[in-house]
Amino acid sequence: MAERIDGKVIAAEVLDKVKAETEKLVAETGVQPGIAVVIVGEDPASQFYVRSKGKRADECGFKSVTHRLPAETSEDALLKLIGELNDDASIHGILVQLPVPDHIDDGKVIQAISPDKDVDGFSFVNVGKLTTGQLGSAFVPCTPAGSMVMIRKALGTSDLSGLNAVVVGRSNIVGKPMANLLIAANATVTVAHSRTKDLPSVCRAADILVAAVGRPEMIKGEWVKPGACVIDVGINRVDDPSSEKGYRVAGDVDFDEAEKVAGSITPVPGGVGLMTVAMLMASTLISACRVAGKEPPSF
Ligand code: GUN
Repeated sequence: MAERIDGKVIAAEVLDKVKAETEKLVAETGVQPGIAVVIVGEDPASQFYVRSKGKRADECGFKSVTHRLPAETSEDALLKLIGELNDDASIHGILVQLPVPDHIDDGKVIQAISPDKDVDGFSFVNVGKLTTGQLGSAFVPCTPAGSMVMIRKALGTSDLSGLNAVVVGRSNIVGKPMANLLIAANATVTVAHSRTKDLPSVCRAADILVAAVGRPEMIKGEWVKPGACVIDVGINRVDDPSSEKGYRVAGDVDFDEAEKVAGSITPVPGGVGLMTVAMLMASTLISACRVAGKEPPSF
């Protein structure tokens, strides 16, 4: 049976460090990390994520503001708010929860956020820094960053030399930055996706398998190399009449099958999802340290 990589435990370690380092930063410099989260519309999953970001920020001792805008908010109004947050010295991290409603160009919104406050790491500047290996001054997207923390914990090393990593999914939010982080850690990386030929055998070559496709339980036990480290980024709702809510949350990996084959595996829920929020707090602290002229801690 695979070892479970526990998102609760690892995220709590990250958050404890953020709290301690925040206290130190405030005591030494008077700079309190500040985060602004913006949500447009009523999507229930997005509302849930935004609430948990606000809660974690409060627990970390941050200044935390949440801007809840109605679904009919114009693109201009959203861009104006981002401009004000860019100019607000008490805010070190800005996150606009995606997706935004269809009448708003998400590309324009992402690029309007100052790269120095882009704690999501989605701006061209931060994508470029990650891709060219300049991690020291970049912001790295939170879900891949959290996945890397879990991989390092599970394998007991930050050097992935000689290991084959397969990332299933090529999104800008997870797949592509995940591949770049794995490359930076010396892994040999394959990015697979819906057009890949013979996906099962590509996956079977992976010492590290990262699933980020958004299809519930698509990756079967037979696709997993014995002993592999499996990171399941999927958060999918599937109908389940036997549960109280009428649905359950499933990952992209068939957990029951895969845990019999893998060496280590993240559960869903209780895995990568918890790390995403923790790494957002870490990035906001890092941003505040940069502004205060202090060497940021590493996570
Ligand atoms: N929606 C789903 N994941 C993310 C994320 O990492 N950042 C933002 N801003 N929106 C998201």
